[in-house]
Amino acid sequence: MKEMAGKGAVDALVKSGMKLGLGTGSTAIPAVRYIGSLLKEGKLRDIRVVPTSFQTSIECEKWGIPLFTLNSREINGSLDLTIDGADEVDDNNYCVKGGGGALLTEKIVAYASAAYAIVVDEAKLAEHLGLTFPLPLEVVPEARLPVIRALEAWGGEAILREAVRKAGPVITDHGNLLLDVFFKHPVDCPALEAALNHIPGVVENGFFTRLRPAVFIARSDGSLEVRN
Ligand code: 5RP
Repeated sequence: MKEMAGKGAVDALVKSGMKLGLGTGSTAIPAVRYIGSLLKEGKLRDIRVVPTSFQTSIECEKWGIPLFTLNSREINGSLDLTIDGADEVDDNNYCVKGGGGALLTEKIVAYASAAYAIVVDEAKLAEHLGLTFPLPLEVVPEARLPVIRALEAWGGEAILREAVRKAGPVITDHGNLLLDVFFKHPVDCPALEAALNHIPGVVENGFFTRLRPAVFIARSDGSLEVRN
């Protein structure tokens, strides 16, 4: 299902000559591999990619996909299209992202893109964001407890994300910590996306509400739905 969503978005949207943002996670990576195979076969040409994480860079390197940063002269601060996964998507196509810990670069890249596509399987669809899958927040290490306390005032219960196969917390690609925040009641996602970043020490949060992505949803019956 993940492969169907990723390939569907690439077939529908990616054209030769594009400046592309490529996402992180188990649904975005099949799209990266597919772009790599199309480049190798000569079916795509002159693609310039800005990756959203170490994971994505490494996968692009394996496929020989040309990598740049948003600050490279060849990219000049803006992209034609970004394709990424999500942890939850609601009926407005608002998303929660950051399950893979890459939300900061993912948001910088997404918000620098003229078009945005989200690739998910149907299990990611949610009526209200932040109630089942927690909202990730990237936080500078010294602000950990003050941010947790501030979130309580917003009705959020925050847990420090612990690493697997390493003792202690997850450290992001930018050297920060991640808090995963559960809300007890439905929240105003666009308002919170703006407000949470005003807490001193919060670098970025995982609500993505300012873009209206095309959402490619792979269904368990084998169909692919595209919701704009
Ligand atoms: C990483 C992300 C991912 O896009 C999100 O976690 C979805 O990953 P997956 O496709 O593996 O479920 O936001 O920070």
